[in-house]
Amino acid sequence: MRDELHWVKIADHIASLNWQENGMCIVTVEGKTVTLARNEDVLFAFAHKCPHAGGIMAHGYMDAAGNVVCPLHRYRFNMANGRNTSGEGYYLKTYATRMIDGAIFIGFKKGLFSF
Ligand code: FES
Repeated sequence: MRDELHWVKIADHIASLNWQENGMCIVTVEGKTVTLARNEDVLFAFAHKCPHAGGIMAHGYMDAAGNVVCPLHRYRFNMANGRNTSGEGYYLKTYATRMIDGAIFIGFKKGLFSF
């Protein structure tokens, strides 16, 4: 239900973001901190902190299967749907992304922001 999302522009161009060598970066969108990850030309957005014990996801890495791996205890999460692929039963919050004319947007469920 992408059209039910509130889309927030986070950059005019993907190259203008502060990417780390691990292919991730941290952005703050209207007071909310989000991790972005680039993997094989697909852009993912997910929670800043791990749902297990608060590890900073952008300080982890992406494995060969395209999971993001938390730096603290190495739990793995599917970046598209947040599923905990290493099986500990947690769920990583994920967000929709889209590019329009090179600009980057993150989609949040409506109600997270007040206007
Ligand atoms: S804090 Fe992320 S796996 Fe433990």
